[in-house]
Amino acid sequence: MATQKFDFSKFIASHVPPGTPQRPAGRAKYDFGTGFPDPDSFPWEGLHEALGRALKDKGRDLVLYPDPQGHPELRQFVADKLRRERGFAVSPDQVLITGGSGPAIALFVQLLTNPGDVLLTEDFTYVGTLGIMRNLRARIVGVTTDAEGMRPDALEQAIKDLARLDIKPRMVYTIPSFQNPLGTDMGIARRKAILAVAQRYGIPIYEDDAYEDLRFQGDRSPAIHSYDDSQMMLYSGTFSKILGPGMRLGFLTAPLDLLPRINTMYWGRPTSEFAVLAALYYLREHLDDHVSEISGILQGRKDTMRAAIGESMGASAVTSDPDGGLYLWVKFREGANVAALMEKARAKGVAYLPGPSFSPNGGGANCLRLCFGYENHQGIRDGIAALAEVFAQNGVLGK
Ligand SMILES: Cc1ncc(COP(=O)(O)O)c(C=O)c1O
Repeated sequence: MATQKFDFSKFIASHVPPGTPQRPAGRAKYDFGTGFPDPDSFPWEGLHEALGRALKDKGRDLVLYPDPQGHPELRQFVADKLRRERGFAVSPDQVLITGGSGPAIALFVQLLTNPGDVLLTEDFTYVGTLGIMRNLRARIVGVTTDAEGMRPDALEQAIKDLARLDIKPRMVYTIPSFQNPLGTDMGIARRKAILAVAQRYGIPIYEDDAYEDLRFQGDRSPAIHSYDDSQMMLYSGTFSKILGPGMRLGFLTAPLDLLPRINTMYWGRPTSEFAVLAALYYLREHLDDHVSEISGILQGRKDTMRAAIGESMGASAVTSDPDGGLYLWVKFREGANVAALMEKARAKGVAYLPGPSFSPNGGGANCLRLCFGYENHQGIRDGIAALAEVFAQNGVLGK
């Protein structure tokens, strides 16, 4: 009988990344850290009613194994939504329903990346994407951004600089609408310019459109995808931000000839038909009303959070003012290190994510991201006041 703990380390396959330690359990009292939407407007009653209708119609189908590419009617719904709202036509055969858009990111990055390959992103980008890219041992090069997001001239320069080293990036990953974490939103000309650069150098674009639904001001810009006539676009979206991440529902689209490979890579991880049916039946009737309700709520919370930061941190904090999405990006003086104060803030009940989490090269210690989606107005005011106290005590505020 063996008495020692079995040693798996000799059996782990070489392609498996070391992984990150499990997160501590529990959430902070004032949770500005993760990108959660508003819990009070989560449409549980509507989803409950929709699920009842769906089960009556289609309950018998739950004894079957689902379509591995995702429920055909939800794929049709997604294709219709993209044509109507994002300005491009794909067939339902080009849509894969995924468990949130995180898996879509993993699939696309895996599809195009060998260890050591270079991938281009905005100079600050979604922490989850960085993790996936790093796990595949990609080299990530951040492209400079401005008020409209990734700069086309900086993108071209990065591609030229790499070409001098005989390196061709495998992908331009961009979040054009309400970028996470910066909150920037590309206008139409910017979208076209980014596409033009990628087309000139023959590099695929992966457009992560997680936040476009959460627009509270201005008109929608069509997706970059809508301007592409060369089939070089990969695209994903999610229902996490308009319903909730707990639904685990998202989707990707890609050129049709890539779907067999993508489906094979995704095999064995279908989404729950339960969640699919509830979301499908609910969103068919309530998508527009629900999106307009939550956009109004988010706009109010953004204003409250900006005002609270202004009151308690004054000119020490330079805060973004996005027209949509879930996040404020707050910048302090050069040399301030808010990344180092996370634990102290957490001890006072406040969670945020520091700049380096979003940076390909670990920069941005004087920056942080705050999610204004989850806490209500009072929670936002109290949490920001508590955060300001921590920052004041640690020399972040003032000259
Ligand atoms: C830009 C972006 N893409 C994708 C995701 C993944 O979200 P989910 O897997 O819940 O769809 C997030 C989550 O915050 C995000 O910010």
